[in-house]
Amino acid sequence: MKQDKFKHQVWLECAACGHRTPFVRPLKACEQCGGEWLDARYDYDATREQWPAALHERPFDMWRYRELLPLHDDAHRVTMGEGGTPLLHATNLGLMLGCPHIYIKDERQGPTGSFKDRQASLAISVMKEHNVTEAVVASTGNVAISYSAYSALAGIKMWAFLTSLVPSEKMREVALYGSEVIKVTATYDQTKKVAADFAARKGIFIDRGIRGISAREAMKTVAFETAEQLPGLIGPGDTLWRTPDWYIQAVSGGMGPVGVWKAYEELIMLGLVDRMPKLACIQVAGCAPMVHSFNKGLEEAKPVLNPQTLVITIATGSPGPAYSFLARVIREHGGAFEAVSDEETFRAMHVMAKLDGISMEPAAATAFAGLFKLLSKGVIRRDEIIVVNCSGHTFPVEKHLLGDRWARTVELPTETPGVKEGLLGSLGQLNGRVRTIAIIEDDPQATLLLRRILQTRGEYQIFEAPDGAAGLELVRCKRPDVILLDLMMPGMDGFEVLEALKADEKVSDVPVIVITAKELTTAERERLGGQIETLMQKGSFTDEELLEEILKRAA
Ligand SMILES: Cc1ncc(COP(=O)(O)O)c(C=O)c1O
Ligand SMILES: [Zn+2]
Repeated sequence: MKQDKFKHQVWLECAACGHRTPFVRPLKACEQCGGEWLDARYDYDATREQWPAALHERPFDMWRYRELLPLHDDAHRVTMGEGGTPLLHATNLGLMLGCPHIYIKDERQGPTGSFKDRQASLAISVMKEHNVTEAVVASTGNVAISYSAYSALAGIKMWAFLTSLVPSEKMREVALYGSEVIKVTATYDQTKKVAADFAARKGIFIDRGIRGISAREAMKTVAFETAEQLPGLIGPGDTLWRTPDWYIQAVSGGMGPVGVWKAYEELIMLGLVDRMPKLACIQVAGCAPMVHSFNKGLEEAKPVLNPQTLVITIATGSPGPAYSFLARVIREHGGAFEAVSDEETFRAMHVMAKLDGISMEPAAATAFAGLFKLLSKGVIRRDEIIVVNCSGHTFPVEKHLLGDRWARTVELPTETPGVKEGLLGSLGQLNGRVRTIAIIEDDPQATLLLRRILQTRGEYQIFEAPDGAAGLELVRCKRPDVILLDLMMPGMDGFEVLEALKADEKVSDVPVIVITAKELTTAERERLGGQIETLMQKGSFTDEELLEEILKRAA
């Protein structure tokens, strides 16, 4: 596509003293006070006027917001389809948790599968604009992969310093793009120092990560897109674009939430939204310096010297300067710092794949585990509008996640009887003792969720009835091992079904698990009396709790 000529003004503004200077070359520090946190600033008045018409014409990718990005000339753009990712509605997860508004910003769909592609595209473009031909980057994996892909395209030689804890598959991907891979047998924090020494000694440009402007500015586009996408999903609000109640991301340096915070400040200035989202920054318990520091009320993060986690992507013990900003923003506008265990992370990863078909890498699953925890603590309300950043690919899938029984083997006998008989015979062995379950539920979405949870174990034969009368008939005809019964149904409701079942001696002993959205009155509880095995509140049980209940009853 031909890119029209476009030039715009960008300034660097020091967060410490407010000194402003035109952005003509990357600066390490403020020329006036030496402050290291410099923010890019733009002509917001011009942008306010241009955007409504201009955005209409542009493709949905991250470059549509170019007036608020620090690249002067479009011709320097290094691009391969980054940004413009879908905002997916987490339907089954939402049903299970009782949250109708969970949305997933699907950053897996970037060119190398993580949200770092936005950062790489902008950072490498800016390097190109400033005639950088060789650069150093330190990474826990995804940044190196992404920077390597984009620097290949731009013709920039990349030196990628990785902690040796990074899975070898990721390292090989970095090498595949032609980068120099330097494996440092130390933590990520030490790796960063080695990379900086190397760059200083050789006089090579080093990517400054969150300290540089490219990374933060690129991350804003996640928030711009989300704010622009939300009205189409939840309907119009008081402003043209919309702010979610929560933005959730797993953090180590904190680049994502910092970018999102800055993006909403700018959108408020432009009048496109009228408030900030609450930011939830999630870390793994074995490396949670931000969470501990926030809980202690510290202004600056106290590093964790020895990260203990399998989630290497976010094992940064020393979080750097973003913490102080994020802590301040969260104190001012609401939000949370939360820690989850590795185990909770891997469980969330499995749940998201099973329930909504979304496979993600552990670092992204940490954010989902955080969501589950903040919901159960009541910090996030179930009716709030929640956006979770989902990044990264799962491959190769961690072995321990699936256990030993993730596949079944069919062995073909090599001798007579003939191959066909042998195959059928072998397939027959796949069916162990199949348990049968009847779902009596009038809401097709709820039925789908229950079916999905059962299907993930693959050992149930599932019968479904959309109302009470059909359910009763079904139970009498199939005599299932367990019944999942909804209470509120038009016509014959769950109470009546239960009474009819218990009065029929042929089926009166079939265990019944009542699953209801209704808060029961005392009279209703009495009416259920001892006739049911378990009462489960819709939106408050997890897939594993339900399966455990069923296993107990259908054994
Ligand atoms: C998938 C994923 N989530 C979260 C992070 C943490 O990002 P940050 O260090 O900017 O907080 C990374 C970093 O590489 C990542 O790849
Ligand atoms: Zn300054």
